[in-house]
Amino acid sequence: MKGRVYIRTFGCQMNVKDSERMMGLLAAHGYGPAAGPDDADVLLCNTCSVREKPEQKIMGVLGRWKALKQNRPTLVTAVCGCVAQQKGQEFLDRLPWLSLVVGTQMVHRLPELVERARSGERLAAVQWLERGDPDLFAVPEMGQGTAVKGFVSIMQGCDNRCAYCIVPFVRGPAVSRRADDVLREVKEMAARGVKEVTLLGQNVNAYHDRGIGFPELLRLAAKAGVERVRFTTSHPKDLDDGLIEVMADDPRVMEAIHLPAQAGSDRVLRAMNRGYTRDGYLDLIRKLRAAMPEVGITADLIVGFPGESEHDFQDTLRLLEEVRYDETFSFRYSPRPGTAAAGFAGQVPEPEKYQRLYRLQELQEGITQEKNQEQVSGSYEVLIEGPSKNDPGKLSGRTRSNRIVHIARDGVRPGDLVKVRVTRALKHSLEGEPCAPTAALTGAFKEETCFWR
Ligand code: SAH
Ligand code: SF4
Ligand code: F3S
Repeated sequence: MKGRVYIRTFGCQMNVKDSERMMGLLAAHGYGPAAGPDDADVLLCNTCSVREKPEQKIMGVLGRWKALKQNRPTLVTAVCGCVAQQKGQEFLDRLPWLSLVVGTQMVHRLPELVERARSGERLAAVQWLERGDPDLFAVPEMGQGTAVKGFVSIMQGCDNRCAYCIVPFVRGPAVSRRADDVLREVKEMAARGVKEVTLLGQNVNAYHDRGIGFPELLRLAAKAGVERVRFTTSHPKDLDDGLIEVMADDPRVMEAIHLPAQAGSDRVLRAMNRGYTRDGYLDLIRKLRAAMPEVGITADLIVGFPGESEHDFQDTLRLLEEVRYDETFSFRYSPRPGTAAAGFAGQVPEPEKYQRLYRLQELQEGITQEKNQEQVSGSYEVLIEGPSKNDPGKLSGRTRSNRIVHIARDGVRPGDLVKVRVTRALKHSLEGEPCAPTAALTGAFKEETCFWR
């Protein structure tokens, strides 16, 4: 083996997928995984710049790596991902012990860059690729694995300009991957035993490849051999009836949607440049629920956007009460360099943002608990994923609507599709028990699902 690699990943699923690509590419060049940073020859920090907090955490990690490098001068240290793209050469200038800076579109070059770093070079590779360059999505051969679920990128970048958001600056313009390549990757994963794939893009509803739009791609992916297909993220302004139809009709497409609202006030939505109104958003929720009464709906929300008044904020609280999301992911607005909103008047003081976040999260906690409680005694199809994070003695999996369920290990294995009766609601998940012998269900249950739809 050439050396051992340790990757620390921050940020969204795109980064998780990129870290997998990095490990796979290095593995194909003779590297293997390290148990931890102390044990590694190559250290990669895959970074996120969406808010200030993850950026601060990254500096903490790099501080610790600096000490490791002092004791082992041959250690290769690299910053990759969105902060790498944003800062580029500046990182090398500021951190003299750092070997590499690898931008978001340079993942395919990692093996070569690591080799050069090992022979003493210091480099920042943060170029943008040509729009259709297939290297943008290059995935290594992954070999036989044990993973039950995985991610497949269908797009890179974003063409929207939400006023708060740095993503388009660090990930480039929206590029759709060739549908053939997407489907090939899904098929390969299915052949490796992967049961569920999540199609990834910053705004999957904007996907298009020579006449194939997102609903069609989803339909094709659902035929490519896996049991379940999910997707993220869906932008409300581009969500059309075709997507709702596929979600409702195709038994292998899960009834779950992450539909970030960001705010409940039209004034704030306009300032954010989101391209929809509160009423338009609520219409989508109504359509989704009319087509799929059990659909799982989650969202991202931002509090304290510049100019957000107490009244605007209450509109967001009322949106939560009206929609009754299963879960929400909420953030204090964080000004990002180069974005429009960073220069807006009416920046909300930090203590006020904290207070709003607290109020929003308290309201949502209550709703989540009530919604989880409503699941008790119901029976749901669950794909068992692996050991439960709550209780290592148990396994956990997800319902079609994306709720986490913990169940006893008896007779159930990761990868099984089982019908589970929910016995108890926890804060952010459920407990349950298989309601028929597993062996009888796997396979047979698929037909039952098809039959009812
Ligand atoms: N493409 C996705 C979002 C990617 S960023 C979409 O459009 O939905 C993930 C989430 O981070 C966003 O939905 C938003 O809620 C949050 N976010 C992005 N920029 C932010 C900022 N400057 N401050 C606070 N939260 C932010
Ligand atoms: Fe950012 Fe908006 Fe693009 Fe999402 S759609 S990545 S929030 S600019
Ligand atoms: Fe963060 Fe980059 Fe994702 S900024 S949210 S890791 S696209």
